[in-house]
Amino acid sequence: MNSIEEARHAANSACNLVVFSGAGLSAESGLATFRDKGEGLWSKYDPMELASVDGFDRDPELVLRWYEWRRQRHRSATPNAAHRAIARSGARNVTQNVDNLLERAGVVPEQISHLHGSIMSDRCHAECGWRCDIDLEECQVLRACPSCGARTRPSIVWFGESLPEDALTRAIEWCGEADCLLVVGTSGVVQPAASLVGMAKARGTVVIDVNPDANEHTGLADILVSATAANAIPEILSGIEKAPPK
Ligand code: OAD
Repeated sequence: MNSIEEARHAANSACNLVVFSGAGLSAESGLATFRDKGEGLWSKYDPMELASVDGFDRDPELVLRWYEWRRQRHRSATPNAAHRAIARSGARNVTQNVDNLLERAGVVPEQISHLHGSIMSDRCHAECGWRCDIDLEECQVLRACPSCGARTRPSIVWFGESLPEDALTRAIEWCGEADCLLVVGTSGVVQPAASLVGMAKARGTVVIDVNPDANEHTGLADILVSATAANAIPEILSGIEKAPPK
């Protein structure tokens, strides 16, 4: 058996398959990853300037304009074969991605935990509770919270911030229940997200790692698939179809 066949067998044998994804899942949709050499966003931009509270406090306009640019990129991105195969499988998803390509492929929101928030909405920086979905066609954003007057910002987790409690709770529960964890397109360097993979592995979950390059999860994976998401995931998930709605 080659590694894709092994992975397909493990995924098809699982009672509770969970997909754990990172930026590599959306790379073949045209969205840059963060740490790939040359093309990764963090090799061109300083995360402490653009993705931290200190950076935002220093120059909010710069940060907001950068996210507007990223939203333009998201507007032209469409789900790739991996997103579509994941949607067909009906598996639960724990994702670090802030895009909505899994949802657009057909995964229902109840089946996704967005650990790092969403680029598709803004919220009040002072956390008064105001939140607003962003229409990518219009992309018009308010600079001041209509509720309390504080600055608005993307609903994304920045460096040094805590993960959304509801998303983290769901992710811990789902990874804890999984008997097979399909890890795809993540470097595994950002905590606490990455620790969920080790946690699942420690309780006996079969870990499949789909990534063209070595990463922090390579050493603990039971099955390593050295391929891109759009090439490998449809094959691995073939044969797994969610039950049609009753
Ligand atoms: P990274 O950019 O750190 O890692 C992307 C991974 O995807 C690398 O291991 C690549 O080898 C792999 N990869 C690249 N192309 C691929 C493809 N076509 N198919 C499969 N894998 C591919 O991205 P993340 O691990 O998601 O935080 O980064 C974690 C967090 O760091 C992100 O959520 C982001 C960032 O700062 C926030 O936005 C809050």
